[in-house]
Amino acid sequence: MTADAKAKAGLEDVVATSSRICYLDGDQGVLAYCGHDIHDLARHATFEETCYLLWHARLPTRAELGDLQSQLAAARVLPEAILRLMKMLPSSDGMDALRTLTSALGHYDPEASDASAQASYRKAVRLTGQLASLVATWGRMQQGGGPVAPDPAMGHAASFLYMLTGERPDPTAVRAMDVALTLHADHELNASTFAARVAAATLTDIHSAVVAGIGTLKGPLHGGANAEVMKMLIDIGEDAPPERIDAYVRGKLARKEKIPGFGHRVYNTEDPRATHLRQMSKALGQQAGSTAWFDMSERIEAIVKAEKKLYPNVDFYSASTYYTMGIAIDLYTPIFAVSRISGWTAHILEQYANNRLIRPRADYTGPAYPQAWVGVEGR
Ligand SMILES: CC(C)(COP(=O)(O)OP(=O)(O)OC[C@H]1O[C@@H](n2cnc3c(N)ncnc32)[C@H](O)[C@@H]1OP(=O)(O)O)[C@@H](O)C(=O)NCCC(=O)NCCS
Repeated sequence: MTADAKAKAGLEDVVATSSRICYLDGDQGVLAYCGHDIHDLARHATFEETCYLLWHARLPTRAELGDLQSQLAAARVLPEAILRLMKMLPSSDGMDALRTLTSALGHYDPEASDASAQASYRKAVRLTGQLASLVATWGRMQQGGGPVAPDPAMGHAASFLYMLTGERPDPTAVRAMDVALTLHADHELNASTFAARVAAATLTDIHSAVVAGIGTLKGPLHGGANAEVMKMLIDIGEDAPPERIDAYVRGKLARKEKIPGFGHRVYNTEDPRATHLRQMSKALGQQAGSTAWFDMSERIEAIVKAEKKLYPNVDFYSASTYYTMGIAIDLYTPIFAVSRISGWTAHILEQYANNRLIRPRADYTGPAYPQAWVGVEGR
């Protein structure tokens, strides 16, 4: 593939729409939601404040935040039919389950056929509450536990951990989850958000557009990378000596294999989200009494930087962060969706509000036109 064809194939640097939601400067490593720098949000915001910001383009007042918290808490109670369906699913892949169950939620939504802006917004809130419960309950069932009813007094991050483990989470874990959810909430026209917007631009319903996003997030070049990172760290081995880490990574690079969690289409510098996840991975490791996964991750980062001039992306340090929190690897990408549902729905609502069908063109490279028709007996 020529460089030009490669860029075209990936729609590299193509501006496909205008949006008020996410500001991204890949050269300076800047990410901001509606003008608010991601570093400020990671330090100060809760996920609920972040959701409000993405949906309304401004931070909420105390009363508005309280209202949203109540709406999300109500939405975290899953329909009984969805819990029954969850038990029936044969697949043990968390993203497959999430895709099917999110689609099924559309059947039980009281406003499924109402496409008004007000109903679409309420569905965005509902889906955000529901996805957290879906993933937490699914994760718990995979470990042999039964569903845990949400506690409406808890915030979104705390409730997620509570429904996943059945235990009241400690404040450090809650804050780590809150920050992780905030960091993953939106990222401009990433592949899954673009997929969701393309779907929404046909004026299909919000559940269908979100399912398009979930299916796209699953891929290892996108959200699936965080699970791949942890599988790689485990493959290297928690007690691996430095030589083994080096040989493993250099071997992969020599075979032209990609190192999961590195590289980015937009950033030519450190992904600002990785900065916070690196700190979290280290702090949680120290609290747990072992920084082995963090140390290994730092060593891999140094090699990949030196050899390929590639920086870690959001998925690299989220892997060791979640692992140290005791979260099953199969839930890493679904947790990405628990957060990104806020960005997907913000973009879907924006698309609905100012819609035009998204329908690009392709360079035709097939057999020359026109081909003569040959009947089946003559082929
Ligand atoms: C994110 C990603 C898909 C961006 O893809 P892209 O913009 O199309 O970039 P390319 O895949 O064309 O990579 C450009 C070059 O960097 C190399 N490269 C990119 N990411 C790499 C990685 N993680 N490990 C090793 N090499 C990598 C490619 O091999 C290619 O090298 P070449 O020019 O010598 O062929 C890509 O970096 C990747 O696959 N990363 C690993 C998966 C991942 O972490 N995804 C999560 C993204 S948030």
